[in-house]
Amino acid sequence: SVFTKTLLTTAVMAVSLSAAHAGTERVINVSLPLGPDSQQGIGVLKFGEELERLSEGRLSIEPHYDNALGAEREVVEGMGFGIIDAGISSTGPMGGFVDEFMLFDLPYVFENHEHAYAFLDSEHGEQLAQLAEEGMNVKFLAWMENGFRHNTNSVRPIEKPSDLEGINHRTQESRVQVDTWEALGANATPMAWTEVYTALQQGVMDSQENPLATIYDVNFYEVQDYLNMTQHVYSPAPLMMSLDLFNSFSEEDQEIILEAAQIALPVQREASQELEARYLVQLEELGMTVTHPDLEPFREAVRPVLEEWSSVVGEDLVDAAINFEY
Ligand code: MLT
Repeated sequence: SVFTKTLLTTAVMAVSLSAAHAGTERVINVSLPLGPDSQQGIGVLKFGEELERLSEGRLSIEPHYDNALGAEREVVEGMGFGIIDAGISSTGPMGGFVDEFMLFDLPYVFENHEHAYAFLDSEHGEQLAQLAEEGMNVKFLAWMENGFRHNTNSVRPIEKPSDLEGINHRTQESRVQVDTWEALGANATPMAWTEVYTALQQGVMDSQENPLATIYDVNFYEVQDYLNMTQHVYSPAPLMMSLDLFNSFSEEDQEIILEAAQIALPVQREASQELEARYLVQLEELGMTVTHPDLEPFREAVRPVLEEWSSVVGEDLVDAAINFEY
């Protein structure tokens, strides 16, 4: 009958398909805090494209934007437990799992992008990735980035630390960040990323800090009047995978996954820097008042925080980062 014939043809096709593509077929779900056009989206989509190409279509990704799978801390935990496949996340919530990750919360450690890339692409970046594997049960695929972070608020332009006096400022879920903003004079409250827009809109919070590409992607210009180029922190956004999932792939596929991530890395970093420059212009056009404060008084005000937390993060690691030759 026609029915049997169709079934047979389908079966033959299925057999020849799997013979042509020996190995696992898998769609990897990837969590992102931001949208497809953001610095994160560009990196994750490039990773997916390369993954498909290198595996001849067997491996692919399904992106889940705007933290649809959960807030950053939940996603990192979820990957650790093996219930979330993969994700890109800022390092903000990671210091809660591995002390050394608070390095990226410490203010004024990295001078510029080249400094941060040289450090992360050295054995120090590898060591941190190893610590993440042991402490969070996640596999680091690439040190992608969010970029340098800057302050926005709805109260007044910030030219010097004392301008932050009395401002209710949201930090990431990091004690170092709370201490930093308290030292600068603000009232600091830690809050998950998923709640920030509403908190700013409702006036529960006056102020936050993030890279320009993030500020643009989530329309913070609608609820914030001042953009202050404080550049206080370089924010990595590592692309990660559940270690259990990673280990479940064949060695050949593990190499494909790592290679796809390494090809996507420079594309992501370049796009991130490009967006930063573009959005500085656009955010001003959208009505934000931009300040370029002298950063020396800010460095001065947070020096005690750097000194106090260095012992927790690891003196050697902090020194290596600050003095890294690039
Ligand atoms: C945050 O401020 O919580 C993060 O920077 C959000 C993000 O990773 O985009």
